[in-house]
Amino acid sequence: MKGIILAGGTGTRLYPLTKVTNKHLLPVGKEPMILNPVRQLLSAGIKDILVITSKDHMGAVVQLLGSGAEYGCHFTFKVQDTAGGIADALLLAKGFVHDEKMVVILGDNILTSSISPYAVAFSEQKEGAMVLLKAVGDPERYGIAALDEHKKMLLCIEEKPCQPKSCYAVIGVYLYNPDVFDVIRGVSPSHRGELEISSVNDWYVKQGLMKYEYYSGDWTDAGTFESLVYANELMLSRDNIIENSS
Ligand code: G1P
Repeated sequence: MKGIILAGGTGTRLYPLTKVTNKHLLPVGKEPMILNPVRQLLSAGIKDILVITSKDHMGAVVQLLGSGAEYGCHFTFKVQDTAGGIADALLLAKGFVHDEKMVVILGDNILTSSISPYAVAFSEQKEGAMVLLKAVGDPERYGIAALDEHKKMLLCIEEKPCQPKSCYAVIGVYLYNPDVFDVIRGVSPSHRGELEISSVNDWYVKQGLMKYEYYSGDWTDAGTFESLVYANELMLSRDNIIENSS
């Protein structure tokens, strides 16, 4: 299984913190933000990792991560020239992934306990994809999953809905089979002109090919001032150590 960290974007919501650096290099606890997704992938035994970022700060990202020798893994780097959405960035991973399964993590997502059990479950899933859900108090900010909990079935996934059908956010950890690249090519840009990862995920839902699990640890994105403060609280209190999942 391959790992992909999406660390592009302009980080406008964190301006001026992001004026001279990449959002994913800002501190979370005692480490730069991007090391949390790196450590998550390592905790799941994934050691072949592609990092996709914008050209502006690629040098600093490479300076931080290096070849991967320091972390016992191997990093590959790719540049996303223009910010065209998460799914658009993921297209850059096609040559790297070949015919393997993959775990995709958004570089600004901070998770306290290991994703390993979900990666193990997905390695046995023959087709389709898997998303992880977490209840949130502000569902308008996220990709939101409507579900039938009795049938353990997803009904739809909508990006930042005005009228959310549930409180379950789809967190920024996605597990895909390599057919995801064909799926991305089939989706249309959203009203904000981006290829949304929720459109890709909803396609799998509509085909009956999307599984889900509830993420058991604490989770936050760190893309706004408030969530960045919370991410710092979460990781400082744990010394940036990722716990084993129960
Ligand atoms: C992105 C995704 C959204 C997901 C969220 C998790 O949103 O589009 O579906 O729930 O990450 O952090 P963004 O942070 O780009 O607004």
